[in-house]
Amino acid sequence: MKTFLTRAVEFPAGHRYVRAEWSEAENEARFGKCYRPPAHGHNYRVEVTVAGEPNPETGMLIDLGELDAMLGETVLAPMDHAFLNDLPEFRGGMIPTTECLARVIWNRLEPRLPRHVSLARVRVREDRDLWAECTTG
Ligand code: NI
Repeated sequence: MKTFLTRAVEFPAGHRYVRAEWSEAENEARFGKCYRPPAHGHNYRVEVTVAGEPNPETGMLIDLGELDAMLGETVLAPMDHAFLNDLPEFRGGMIPTTECLARVIWNRLEPRLPRHVSLARVRVREDRDLWAECTTG
C-alpha cells in the first residue's frame, strides 16, 4: 500500500508566450493572446504530492515544515509575483506554459526530497479550467 500526501501553494505570476526566432505574425498565429504584449498573469495553484510510508513514530510521510520550506525555496520565493519567463529554466527558449511550469517545479523539487519519500505528482493549475501535471513513469 502506498500513502500519498499533497500540499498546495498559490501565487500570482505573469508570463508571455513568444519565440524570438519567429516573426510577430507567426507568434500571433501560434500563441494568440498568450503572445500579445506586454504580458498577462494567472493565480497559479501548485499541488505537490509525495508518496511513501508514514514514519511509525510521527505518523507522517514527511515533516510538513520541511516540505513547506522546500516549496518556499523552490516555488514561492522565485515565482510569487514574478514574470515566469525570467526564471533560468525559461531563458533558453522553453515556453512558460502550464505544462512546462509543472516540469520545472518537478525538476526543482525532486532532488531535494528526503530519501524516504518520492515525488508522485506535481499539478499546476492556471485557473479553474486548466491544469497540467507530471507524474512518475
Ligand atoms: Ni497565460
